Amino acid sequence: MASTKRKFKVWRGDKAAGDFKDFDVEVDEGMVVLDVLHRIQARQANDLALRWNCKAGKCGSCSMEINGKPRLACMTRMNVFGGDETITCQPLKTFPVIKDLVTDVSWNYEQNKRIPKFQPRKRDADGTYRMYQADVERTQEFRKCIECYLCQDVCHVLRDRGGKDGENASGKFVGPRFMIRLASLEMHPLDEADRIPEIRKEFGSGMCNITRCCTEVCPEHIGITDNGIIPLKERVVDRYFDPVAMVGRALLGIRRRK
Ligand code: SF4
Ligand code: SF4
Ligand code: FES
Repeated sequence: MASTKRKFKVWRGDKAAGDFKDFDVEVDEGMVVLDVLHRIQARQANDLALRWNCKAGKCGSCSMEINGKPRLACMTRMNVFGGDETITCQPLKTFPVIKDLVTDVSWNYEQNKRIPKFQPRKRDADGTYRMYQADVERTQEFRKCIECYLCQDVCHVLRDRGGKDGENASGKFVGPRFMIRLASLEMHPLDEADRIPEIRKEFGSGMCNITRCCTEVCPEHIGITDNGIIPLKERVVDRYFDPVAMVGRALLGIRRRK
């Protein structure tokens, strides 16, 4: 099997301090970045910390920034880089470092808990649920999410503009991963809960300015912005800013939570 010497720069440190360390490493044909990091761990830096589980792009554990781009290390083939290119690996920038390439992503779990849960309507008279296939398919895409949080990492509202910690003047933003979770519930044909007031306020839909960076990095190719966030923004606009819809609701006596 053909192998070549390649240069890697891997961030090493903890929440107090850290820096890039250089490694020259033998890379075999067909390797992915995760394989090379495992080789570095086995031969040169036994205490290098990194997360992984499936090595198949399905667990979302090996998220990191490779040459400045949020990627899954197990799905990044070495042959996408030039032969003399140095490969840099660093932890996700949006979340606090624990050690080396491992970050604390627990902020995301807290956001998940804040989302009002699925609230199914009553069954039909014959005891069944009926749904249009098109409605079922619309939310199916969002369920492919592997919770790698690459979209959360790249989102500038969370990363650079204080949307994560509420330091932004416009408030807090829940991030693209949880906007599509909200979309999967709001568009679910059986769900009856009304989350539009929270989507507008607590979850900060107005802070997303549709740059589509989240969609670009999603390893599951979910249409985060076009299929999830934009339709939610439209629902907020219909509810709060569309005078025709507001008059229509008043005439029909449709009451909505404020
Ligand atoms: S489209 Fe919205 S959610 Fe996605 S990265 Fe841009 S600002 Fe963030
Ligand atoms: S939406 Fe895509 S990028 Fe975001 S957490 Fe899910 S799989 Fe990862
Ligand atoms: S190891 Fe599971 S997604 Fe990379």
